[in-house]
Amino acid sequence: MRNEGDAPVTVSRLTEPTDHRNQLLEDVRHGLTAYRKHLPSKYFYDARGSDLFEDITRLPEYYLTEAETELLAQHSDNLMARIEPDELVELGSGSSRKTRMLIDAMRRSGGTRYVPIDISEEALRAAAKKLCASYSWLEVEGLVGDYVADLDKVRRRGRRLIVFLGSTIGNYVPTLRYSLLRAVAAALATGDSFLLGMDLVKDESTMIAAYDDAAGVSAEFNLNILRVVNRELDGDIPVDAFEHVTRFDRQFSCIAQSLRATREVVANIRALNLAVTFHVGEEIHTEVSCKFTRDGVEKDFAGAGMRLDDWFTDSAGRFALALGSHA
Ligand code: AVJ
Repeated sequence: MRNEGDAPVTVSRLTEPTDHRNQLLEDVRHGLTAYRKHLPSKYFYDARGSDLFEDITRLPEYYLTEAETELLAQHSDNLMARIEPDELVELGSGSSRKTRMLIDAMRRSGGTRYVPIDISEEALRAAAKKLCASYSWLEVEGLVGDYVADLDKVRRRGRRLIVFLGSTIGNYVPTLRYSLLRAVAAALATGDSFLLGMDLVKDESTMIAAYDDAAGVSAEFNLNILRVVNRELDGDIPVDAFEHVTRFDRQFSCIAQSLRATREVVANIRALNLAVTFHVGEEIHTEVSCKFTRDGVEKDFAGAGMRLDDWFTDSAGRFALALGSHA
């Protein structure tokens, strides 16, 4: 527990809740009336969706978390000693295990400030609360906001390390990935660094199994987005009329997930005053998880005005950490 005199913990907003609500309304209206229906993957993560994702990270098929954890355990100390950041800015509030390895290493190199940015205020508060219970010396400034639109509003305090872990970059289609990397580059000054964790291209069956596990947790996670729409927008989409579909799209080097209607459905989304028809076999595209190569990342960084300074892969060559800086 904290005592008087401990470093402060604050959570403040870069994005207003009404903007967030309007964005949801617009995204769902746009996505469910499109020629090919789609819903943004960021809406997976209500409380249940976040729990399901935590379960996914413990599945034998979902190698990503284990591979990245191995990499951070191996390289955090060296990276921090080399960068010596005063502040660690994390895009997403992060799983506590991986964040803790970085925070521990940052302390050894003298940094004292942790700035998680997340669109979910609840996720931020939960993460901040857990961290402040164990690190009394750490100054935590949680920011509720959008990584791309709000990154330039984060005030700097000394040398900065921005981290974006878990292969969340994979959820950005190439044009949005470009915007994100541009925003990161613009938030880096000389001496600052960017650490990016991402999944690598490998044999198709391994990649697909990670998103279509035997226990069906990935399917539940995918279907949960319909529950989020129903609850948030007073909808009546019958979740049991949809099945989980996972494919690898070679052209875009992405795992693509969707939900396919197994019968004809007419649903009402009352908050939008919208009736939506789903034909048998029609799909709602829900997520891309792009897979990367070193060459591709080097090009993406260069296109956004960053230099790739270092590249680490886990012992099985499944996952990578890229270290970048402003070009
Ligand atoms: C949290 C975005 C990294 O794309 O691998 C897991 C989300 N989706 N299973 C990923 C996810 C389905 C995950 N990220």
